[in-house]
Amino acid sequence: MKQLLDNCTFVIFGATGNLARTKLMPALYHLCMDDLLPKDITILGVARSIADRDEWLTELRSDLKGCVRDGLDEAVFKRFCSHLDCLRTGLRTTEDYQQLSDYIEKKNFSKNIAFYFSLPPSLYAAVVASLSGIGLLKQEQGWRRVVVEKPFGSDLETAKNLQRHFERCLEESQIYRIDHYLGKETVQNVQVFRFANLLLEPLWNRNYIDHVQISHAETIGIGSRSVYYDGIGALRDMIQSHLLQLLSLVAMEPPVSMQAEDLRDEKVKLLRSISAIPKGSVSSHAFRAQYAAGDVDEKMVKGYLQEENIPQDSVCETYAALKLYINNWRWRGVPFYLRTGKRMKEKHSMIAICFRQTPKQFFRTSQLEQFKPNWLLIGIQPDASLRMELTVKKPGLEMQTKVISLDASFNDDVSRDAYEGLLLDVMEGDHSLFLRSDEVEESWKIIDPVLRSWASQQDYIRTYDSGSWGPEESLRLFEKEGQRWRSSLEPE
Ligand SMILES: NC(=O)c1ccc[n+]([C@@H]2O[C@H](COP(=O)([O-])OP(=O)(O)OC[C@H]3O[C@@H](n4cnc5c(N)ncnc54)[C@H](OP(=O)(O)O)[C@@H]3O)[C@@H](O)[C@H]2O)c1
Repeated sequence: MKQLLDNCTFVIFGATGNLARTKLMPALYHLCMDDLLPKDITILGVARSIADRDEWLTELRSDLKGCVRDGLDEAVFKRFCSHLDCLRTGLRTTEDYQQLSDYIEKKNFSKNIAFYFSLPPSLYAAVVASLSGIGLLKQEQGWRRVVVEKPFGSDLETAKNLQRHFERCLEESQIYRIDHYLGKETVQNVQVFRFANLLLEPLWNRNYIDHVQISHAETIGIGSRSVYYDGIGALRDMIQSHLLQLLSLVAMEPPVSMQAEDLRDEKVKLLRSISAIPKGSVSSHAFRAQYAAGDVDEKMVKGYLQEENIPQDSVCETYAALKLYINNWRWRGVPFYLRTGKRMKEKHSMIAICFRQTPKQFFRTSQLEQFKPNWLLIGIQPDASLRMELTVKKPGLEMQTKVISLDASFNDDVSRDAYEGLLLDVMEGDHSLFLRSDEVEESWKIIDPVLRSWASQQDYIRTYDSGSWGPEESLRLFEKEGQRWRSSLEPE
């Protein structure tokens, strides 16, 4: 439990946007409900389209009603509202920022200020420069922190550029690059599971692990995010950020300590150890496709090209898969397969670790039956779980085997949204679950060759039916005959 946080002012730029309404405000409401916010915190919503406080609160009330745990509690909402204020302003001119600065001064809000950029990424550099220009990032009377959402850049070069803008105005310690995946309970549990249990450590290497799969599948399409999504695609949207973060947690060496810098040092070291995808071999390491119309949850849905505002010749990928190798002592030769897709058969995020076959298969009942390797499955969503598959004898007189799953699910404990912990971490000044600049750049370095190669192929993209697990052709990434994507936590 977090406690005794500094009093602070939490400024949300883009308070009328999707993220603020569906994630940030509900998370802050829940923190208020559980008495975890600083006692006198002010949450200041800033946007151009806020009419006035009353109207903003009315909209907020209706947003929260639809998404908070156990329904909206009127007493909690009243208490929450006592912390809320808003300011209608653009983020364009020096006067806009002066207005913000004067407002904070006039209302005597706390001088510890976090600025949350829930804004289009194209504004990040200008907003940070303007805040700095007006002196709002100076830490003379209190701390000043900036929280930026992904994506941080759209490739290595733009990420470096953006970083240069940030460096001119901020110390690295003032920047919180958020990847909300890292706030998920199960993701954090990967660290505990690996570093608080000795059991698996001797097996956690190339001698015992055949390959690792990390997947994130969604049943939804791009919805109303077409303008944002079409220029981005699945590789940037999911793999560069979330899935590479998962990979680094699964594969990194034990850090010197669990302090933020030690943790981030190890993640960076791991990302730097990933072998670059050679320009000429992108097609054997990466695969892309786009959803066509199909049947999801017994409902016919449109294909990507039929979605609103999507150009008819778009080759933006909604499915991306990658094979990576980590060129270090522990992992050399072990393929890591990353996969993400929209409009897939089921919604799931999971890490699946496939162990090697036993050296000799004693209990095969016939030559045809393939003896199953052990799998360790870490479900991230919707099932937060940990399962180990083992082969046991089927009861009966004959020597037959079956796969069972030791299930250590912890669904009941996972009611908190990832943003709740992360917002508290910002207030507390804990960087452990936020990305450092070198981490972001290393991630872009890994996918840059694929981005470049795909950008040069503008005439064709494979499609897959909505409601499927994606194109069968993606199996060509697998090293061994017969290997497949693992799509379920249930024994196969
Ligand atoms: N939505 C998600 O689930 C999600 C998930 C992960 C990351 N993100 C990231 O979070 C950020 C916000 O996403 P979002 O989905 O909330 O976007 P959004 O719905 O488009 O909201 C963006 C907000 O920015 C404000 N804004 C837009 N243009 C502006 C301008 N020129 N000057 C000042 N304010 C401007 C808008 O408010 P006004 O027009 O009222 O000023 C709007 O409230 C993005 O960086 C996105 O990549 C979002």
